[in-house]
Formats: sequence, structure tokens, C-alpha cells
Amino acid sequence: MERIAIRNARVLTLHGVGVRRGTAMRELGVIERGFVACGKGRVARVGAGEPEGSWDRVIDADGCVCMPALVDAHAHLCWGGDRWAEWERIRTGVPYPQILADGGGILSTVRATRAASREQLAEGVTRRLRAMAALGVGATDAKSGYGLEPESEARMLRAIGDAAAASPVLVRRTFLGGHAIPPEDAGWPERLALEVIPTFAREFPDVAVDAFCERSALGVDACRAILRAARAAGLAARLHTDQFTAMGGAEMAIAEGARTVDHLEAATPETVRAVGGSDAIAVILPCSGYALDGRYAPARALVDAGAAVAIGSNANPGSAPTVDLRFAMHLAVRHAGLGCAEAIVAATVNAAHAIGAEDEVGMLAPGMRANLVVLDDRDERSLVHAFGGPPPRLVMLGGRVLQG
Ligand code: NIG
Repeated sequence: MERIAIRNARVLTLHGVGVRRGTAMRELGVIERGFVACGKGRVARVGAGEPEGSWDRVIDADGCVCMPALVDAHAHLCWGGDRWAEWERIRTGVPYPQILADGGGILSTVRATRAASREQLAEGVTRRLRAMAALGVGATDAKSGYGLEPESEARMLRAIGDAAAASPVLVRRTFLGGHAIPPEDAGWPERLALEVIPTFAREFPDVAVDAFCERSALGVDACRAILRAARAAGLAARLHTDQFTAMGGAEMAIAEGARTVDHLEAATPETVRAVGGSDAIAVILPCSGYALDGRYAPARALVDAGAAVAIGSNANPGSAPTVDLRFAMHLAVRHAGLGCAEAIVAATVNAAHAIGAEDEVGMLAPGMRANLVVLDDRDERSLVHAFGGPPPRLVMLGGRVLQG
């Protein structure tokens, strides 16, 4: 593998200890006129001035920003079928939770996903990972959740694993068995907690476990049992909560030691305070507000309350049909009250913590995976300000230059 040094860059190291909250969410660790040197797929050195030593290739960044590749804190990358007809219904005013309650939405994707082979699912994940990499995303969450029975859920997790093994993007899998209750199996949430999670923990010991706490999906008690089963099996817990209804899901997840609480568009001031005083990372997903109903998580209030905020694309075939994490960052600033630097922290180092990959990605420091981008600009605010491009001038993942 080539030993590559990038010189003459405005380097954002994002270097620091732990997940960022409060004013630390604005600290980018800037080195003016700096370099990043990489070898064996890892960052070897970062500093000011010139990269002394011999390198196979030295790239002049021309003063442009060099920063960690982005990290997507929440993404559903594996599914079959499409939801275009449903989108047209949503545009006529039918609410998204109503479509799910009518047996559509997530459940319509479940039908198509159950009918897809492992190879077909893996092919879809591969395409989405490729599109993410081109946008400068170097690590991501990838959830199951459209199987809702053991065999299909396992097939999704295996397909994600297949695609991840062949991709330069670092993937962390999430078992979202509690995404909805399938109409033919009202006992699914209970079975999930009692039988499926303990069994899956053996074949998929790397996964986080997730559920969707919502009136039209799973209730608080069912989600509590799922999160408890996850923790008992030694797995990290996450929860989709407070998207449409504040039902106490976030507070419950915090009490159960969940790593993240995701969505929060409907979070009340009390919930914001509870999240702010907890260790749970608040993962905001502004592409859903954009695609569905114009509601956004109160990210400003969350940061001001002391929460560590991360951003996800929420890529999925229904509520967020995009893999564009940059657009999510733009929306987080435009509609949810984050500053540009906060959005960058939320989509790099804090997102790395959200997916459990903080030892690998999210900052530029010796020993970290050589996942970086060189922007087509000398000011990082361009990354958040300009939606729809331009793509990074250079994307390096695992020490290999993909574009540039
Ligand atoms: O995070 N809200 C629940 N799950 C996804 C949507 C999935 C879908 O619509 O297919 C979300 O928004």
C-alpha cells in the first residue's frame, strides 16, 4: 500500500478525548499549513509544516481543508423494493405514521425485503456504500429491520457483512429487529427479547440492538425489554424515539444505559434536559424532517443542555431517501440550530462514538484509520453551506485514494 502524505492543508484533526459536548462541540483542532502522513492504511503523523521523510506520493492540498472522512451515525442501508407510490400519498397529506398503521411504510419494505436474496440485498448495500464513499463518508451505521422474523433479519445482517467486507467504508451493523410489529406475529417483540437477541448475540456479537418506540410501532415496555435483553447479551443498545410522539422512550432508554437516542423531533423540553444530563448520544436525523413534515430535532437546545449530538443521514427507502450526510449536516444548521463547527463534530467524532467506532475513525491522529477528505475549499464552512456538491477534491479510505 502506498505511503501518502498530504501537505499544504488546513488540517482539522478533531483530536481530543471522548465524545464532545458543550463548547467542545465547536473545537475542530485546526492546524494551519499542516500535513497528514499515512502508511499501512493508518494515519502515521499529523502536524504543522512539511511532512519530513520519504513518501511514495506527496499531494499538495493547495491550502484546502483536510479533515476526517465523515461518519454516518444512523443509516438503514439494506432493503428490497421501493416506496415511490407511498411517497405520492404522503405528498397528498397522509401522515407517515398513518401509512405504517395501514400496513404500508416499513411493513411494505418488509414484504419486499423478505422476498429478496442475500445476494440481492448485498448488492443494494454495496451500491449505497459506494455512493456514500464518493460523498466523503468513510464509516457508517447499517441497520437491519425490514425482516421482522429471525431468518430475514439474519439474512439482512449477513448481506450487510458481505457488502462491508468488500467496501472501503467501515461499517458497524445494527440489529433493528424491533422496527415494527409484523401483522402476522403480535408476539414478535416479546420473542425478540426472550429468544432472538440472545441467539443473535452469538452469531453477530458485533451488532448494536435497536427498536422503534412509537405509537404505530413498539411501546415503551416492549422497547425496554428489548434494550434489557441487548444489555444482558453484552450488546450496545440504541433507540428510535420521540420521532412523532413523546412517550417517555428517551427517558427509558437513558435509564437502560442506551448508547444513543435517535430522532427526537418530538422531544419536549423535559426530554431535552434528560438527554442533556445523560451519557446517551442524541442522534439527530434532519433528512426525515425534510422529506416528511418539516419537523426537526431541537439540536440547539440539546447542545445547550449538555448533550453530545451526532448526525445521521437516516438513509432508508421511506422517511429519508438519501445517503447524503452532507445534506443532513446542512439541514442541522439550517433548521435545527447547530453551528457549522458543531455539525462537523456531530458528523465525525461524535458519530464515531454513536456507532462504536471511536477508536478507528472520526479524528486524524496517529494510529487512526487513514480515512480523510480534502475539500474543494479552504474554509470548512463550505462543506456545510453548499448542499448538492461539490464533492471532496480527494477521498482516502483505509489509506487508499478513491478519488482525487
Ligand atoms: O428512522 N422511524 C423509523 N425508521 C426509519 C424509517 C424507516 C422507513 O420509513 O422505512 C427512520 O426514520
